[in-house]
Amino acid sequence: MDNGYVYSVNAIWISILLDYILGFGFAFVAGFFRKPFLKHKWWPFFVAMTFTMLCILALESSCDETAAAVLKDGEMKSNIISTQIKEHQKFGGVYPELASRLHLQNVASVIFMALDKAGIKPEELTHVAVTAGPGLPGALQVGVIAAKTVAAYLGIPLIGVHHLAGHLYANEYAGDFHFPMIACLASGGNSEIILMKDHLDFEIVGQTLDDAIGEAFDKVAREIGLPYPGGVAIDKLCKAHPEVKPFKLPFPRVPGYNLSYSGLKSAIIRKVEQEKAQNGGKLSDERVIEYAKSVEVAFVNQFVRKAFKAAEDFHAKMVIIGGGVSANSYLRSEVLKHKDEYEVLIPPMWCTTDNASMIAKAADHIIDAGYGIKRYYPNIEVINNNIDPKGHVYNVAYINSNSAIKTNDKILNFILSISEK
Ligand code: KG4
Repeated sequence: MDNGYVYSVNAIWISILLDYILGFGFAFVAGFFRKPFLKHKWWPFFVAMTFTMLCILALESSCDETAAAVLKDGEMKSNIISTQIKEHQKFGGVYPELASRLHLQNVASVIFMALDKAGIKPEELTHVAVTAGPGLPGALQVGVIAAKTVAAYLGIPLIGVHHLAGHLYANEYAGDFHFPMIACLASGGNSEIILMKDHLDFEIVGQTLDDAIGEAFDKVAREIGLPYPGGVAIDKLCKAHPEVKPFKLPFPRVPGYNLSYSGLKSAIIRKVEQEKAQNGGKLSDERVIEYAKSVEVAFVNQFVRKAFKAAEDFHAKMVIIGGGVSANSYLRSEVLKHKDEYEVLIPPMWCTTDNASMIAKAADHIIDAGYGIKRYYPNIEVINNNIDPKGHVYNVAYINSNSAIKTNDKILNFILSISEK
């Protein structure tokens, strides 16, 4: 073997090593000083670097969907959702204990599948994001524990994401945000009109004073004999019968940009009960459709009118909608009617129900704002150094009760097996 060959082999190895050290060094520096570097004259370089290196695994388990998604360089690589709707349908709504058990049963496969579909190895992940709330406490816990475990095992940062911020950021799969903006959140548990002057800057300017719009849809739907989730069933029925005219329902008198659904809902339910009592406990199919149509129009019109009043008063450039009810066809068409006056964004249909890709999008902005720098450590406290009778010294590690690992060995085991893959 001549020396030239040995030198060139050595040169290759040295260059690979240097590449690795420099690459890691830059990535580390860029990630660590994300925000401060914006002031540096080389900031475009660092920003570009940090943008190309984000690879986020996001989890969502706040209600009845167990979901995982991978977002790489801002692009969705996979979005896996395991829905529990069929299991809850027989109870006429979400049964919280069952939801938690199903999350626990499915969270591992959903994570595996999201990584698999994305073609991403666990070691390539740079961040883990998870819905931290609001939601069903037991259901949230499963996603949070799984996310903490992945983050702790891989030694990467963990980002907690507000579920509703996720619903709003679902719109980024349809276009970019332009501020100031009015964001309308319409879901099963929330109805809010939000002023956003910048990313992650949420000022609630109006909200429901009682029931949420989705909750009201579901309750009326149940009363008129439609299956859970009632909002979906009402929408379907209305779309199938465009010829049916709604009857007029009162417009609730609520100050400012606030909303109210409870009065309307109760008035309709009372009316349905009376009608059923007069007709042997049943409503005719025609009446069911009429009720569905009237409720949809009354509920949506209230939201849209208040939202665009806020848009006008706050000189918004853009109006967006988010949350489960943003899938409603009538709401979407009513909002889009204003696209000559405002920029209007509606989330793609696939991103209206709970999913993890919207959580990943929100996390992307949270990281961009300078969070997600520190790697996640569970609070492991070594509280006792024991010496056994043979003189061996070993540490007994007690882990704080808020840590993932102690509470769920099953999840830790599947994480270990992912990483060995
Ligand atoms: O945001 P979401 O998936 O869950 C949370 O509340 O977090 O929203 C679920 C709600 C349910 O009340 C459901 O009936 C409603 O969204 N919903 C709809 C439609 N799709 C889902 N309401 C009206 N029309 C729809 N197409």
